[in-house]
Amino acid sequence: MAKLWAGRTAGDTDKLADDFNSSIRFDSRMYREDITGSMAHAAMLGARGIIPQRDAAALIDALQGILDDLESGALAFDTQCEDVHMFVEQVLTARVGDVGKKLHTARSRNDQVALDLRMYLRAQNEEIMALAKSLTAAITAQAEENKAVILPGYTHLQRAQPITFGHHLMAYAMMLLRDLDRLRDAAKRMNVSPIGCCALAGTTYDTDRRMEAAQLGFADIARNSLDGVSDRDFCVELLAGYAILMMHLSRLSEELILWSSWEFQFVTLSDAYTTGSSIMPQKKNPDMAELVRGKTGRVYGDLMALLTTLKGLPLAYNKDMQEDKEAIFDAVDTVKLCLKVFAPMIETMTVRAENMKKAAQTGFINATDLADYLVKKGLPFRSAYQISGQLVAKCIAEGKVLEELTLEEYRAFSDLFDADLYPEIDLTACVEKRISEGGTSVASVEAQIAWVKASLEL
Ligand code: ARG
Repeated sequence: MAKLWAGRTAGDTDKLADDFNSSIRFDSRMYREDITGSMAHAAMLGARGIIPQRDAAALIDALQGILDDLESGALAFDTQCEDVHMFVEQVLTARVGDVGKKLHTARSRNDQVALDLRMYLRAQNEEIMALAKSLTAAITAQAEENKAVILPGYTHLQRAQPITFGHHLMAYAMMLLRDLDRLRDAAKRMNVSPIGCCALAGTTYDTDRRMEAAQLGFADIARNSLDGVSDRDFCVELLAGYAILMMHLSRLSEELILWSSWEFQFVTLSDAYTTGSSIMPQKKNPDMAELVRGKTGRVYGDLMALLTTLKGLPLAYNKDMQEDKEAIFDAVDTVKLCLKVFAPMIETMTVRAENMKKAAQTGFINATDLADYLVKKGLPFRSAYQISGQLVAKCIAEGKVLEELTLEEYRAFSDLFDADLYPEIDLTACVEKRISEGGTSVASVEAQIAWVKASLEL
């Protein structure tokens, strides 16, 4: 096929080289952006008198026809074309003749692809933010329902102090709020129009870049044409934001996998989000959570791939940059899938409060409160810590819990102990006393929920 770029070259390119060079199999997904971008470009060319107004009108009309036909399925992508930009231009010229050849005045594929990608990712990122918001809402709703459910809080995966399940879940809501903030922030920097930078140096035509930018919903234009065509920071920033978001989903997945194990039995995932085993009939596997954990590595890989691709590139456009798309598209698809499956998995999960409570009753997670009791009676914390430790050792040796020791036994360690110690080491009291802002008490969790809801405008 004759190449639209066959200027100085006469010989045909090798078939394998054509396939190698081609990006249509993955960039065709940007057809909407490519066409609406071209419509704005045609309008600008007409408005500035660079092409006759009636040509601009004909181009816009034909572009709309191509868009409609692609949407309806009446027109299929020609995989012989190098990329989506070449494809649209080729169909356009086939439909309107020589007028079609005027569209590429005062632009280049270099600013065109940068424009399409920004517009495509702007829409995708909006979708991802909406999905992340829904997941945050699902987590917050579960937290609200389980704000008073007590379970052991862990450090080093060892039982540490009693906390509420609502508190534990709200930690993830906070992570997701930060993720949303990061993506919103990246979207702001991304919303700058590169069209009109042309190949690298700008153009001799009297264009109006701001008119195109405004028509396409950009807040600003790239202020340096070399930067405009070679900047892929917006992809890197989104990938970094998605990698961090996936890291959060992966950590929660890991907890869901642990909690739904026979050893923990803290939650039961709905049958809709688990699978069985082909050989072991008793199995109920948390595949969705495991896959989210697994796919996190893939999104990290996308980020590393693009960073590595970009690191040695001289200005301005280099073909290496075509590699940006598969990485960012893969990440966008993966993150969307993960978020879509995660929200209903959280919504439908059953919390097994009795098992959480049972786990909280062993493991001496009220030992800190025992020490705090002595501190409130006037003992320095280090001494109180030591006495509590000795009492825990005694309990372990005798197979008891702190609540079971008699006052007499306590007094053998310190005469500061009184009968009022028992309500102090009661698990519910331990939780309720943690009233510091951000702490685990029900009142504090309620405040966290209210804050997240207000931030999300739920
Ligand atoms: N398919 C190309 C890409 O994705 C479009 C830009 C091509 N520009 C060029 N000068 N060859 O990067």
